[in-house]
Amino acid sequence: MSEEKIIDGKIISAQIKEEIKKEVINLKNKRNITPGLAFILVGENPASVTYVKSKGKACEELGFYSVTNALPESTSESEVLELISGYNEDKSIHGILVQLPVPGHINEEKIIESINYKKDVDGFHPQNIGRLIIGSKCFIPCTPLGVVEMIKRSGIETKGKNVVVIGRSNIVGKPVANLFIQKSLNSTVTVCNSFTKDIKEHTLKADILIAAIGKPHFVTSDMIKKDTVIIDVGINRIPDASKKSGSRLVGDVDYDGCIGKCSKITPVPGGVGLMTIAMLMKNTLDSAAGKIYG
Ligand SMILES: NC(=O)c1ccc[n+]([C@@H]2O[C@H](COP(=O)([O-])OP(=O)(O)OC[C@H]3O[C@@H](n4cnc5c(N)ncnc54)[C@H](OP(=O)(O)O)[C@@H]3O)[C@@H](O)[C@H]2O)c1
Repeated sequence: MSEEKIIDGKIISAQIKEEIKKEVINLKNKRNITPGLAFILVGENPASVTYVKSKGKACEELGFYSVTNALPESTSESEVLELISGYNEDKSIHGILVQLPVPGHINEEKIIESINYKKDVDGFHPQNIGRLIIGSKCFIPCTPLGVVEMIKRSGIETKGKNVVVIGRSNIVGKPVANLFIQKSLNSTVTVCNSFTKDIKEHTLKADILIAAIGKPHFVTSDMIKKDTVIIDVGINRIPDASKKSGSRLVGDVDYDGCIGKCSKITPVPGGVGLMTIAMLMKNTLDSAAGKIYG
C-alpha cells in the first residue's frame, strides 16, 4: 500500500539513463559526436567531492567523455576563469560544471557568468534563468528539471493545482516555482521563505508540496492536507548511532509521519537526488546534439 505511494527516483532515473544511453550511441554513429562534460572542483568539501565523483561515474556509465579538474583550495579566481575560458572554446566539451559552493575568495557570480551559456548545463547562468522565466528554450537547472520529470512520469496532474514551494534558493526554489507557473504546467504557485508568517496556512492548501529547505523533518503531517503529493528535495545528514558511519541522510519532510496521509511522496535517499544527476546528463546530451541552442 505505502509502496504505491512512493515516487521512486531509482526507477525513473534508470529509465532516463537508458534513454540517454541509446541517444548517445545514435549521436556517435550518425554524427560522430560524443557528449563531453568538464568538471571543475575547487577545494575538498566532502559533499562536493562525492557529487563530482558520482557525476563522473554517470558519464562513464552513459558513454560520455568527461574531464575532472580537482584543484586545491588555494586556486585563484583568475586560474578558474582561465580554465573555463579554455573549455568555452573546446569543441569536445559540451557542458561545463563548476561544483558549488566555491571557496570564499572566489566570486561565484563571476564564475557562473564566465561560462558560455550555451555550455551551462547546470542552468545557473543568468541567460538560462532569464529564458526559463520567459518560457524560452534553455538549460533548466538539474534539480528543478528532475522534479518536473518525476511529476510528469508519475502521471501527476499539474494544471490548475496549488503548488507550494518551501525555499527560494537560486538553484532549487526559484527555478522550480518558475517552471510550475509556465504554460506547460499551468499551476498556481506559492513560494515560502524563512519570513513567511504561519507557513502551515500555505502548506495546507498544497496539492503538490515541494520542500527545499535544508532542515531535517521540517514538514510534518499536520502541515499537509490529505492526498497531497510531496516532493522532498532536502538532503540532510543527521546523527544515527545504529549506523556504522554514525549518521544517515534524511529529507526536509517527516517521511514516516506523512506517508499515511499523502497520495505520493519521494523518499530520501532514492528520490530527487538521483534525478539531478540524470538531468545533468540529459542537459549535456542535448547540448552535444544542439537541441537547445542549435
Ligand atoms: N536533491 C538534490 O539533488 C538537491 C539539490 C540541491 C539541494 N538539495 C538540498 O535541498 C535543500 C535546500 O537546498 P538549497 O540549496 O535550496 O538551500 P538554501 O540555499 O539554504 O535555501 C534554503 C531555503 O529554505 C528557506 N527556509 C529556511 N528555513 C525556513 C523556514 N523555517 N521556513 C520557510 N523557509 C525556510 C530559506 O529561506 P530564506 O531565503 O528566507 O533564508 C531558503 O530560501 C538542502 O537540504 C540541500 O541539500 C538537494
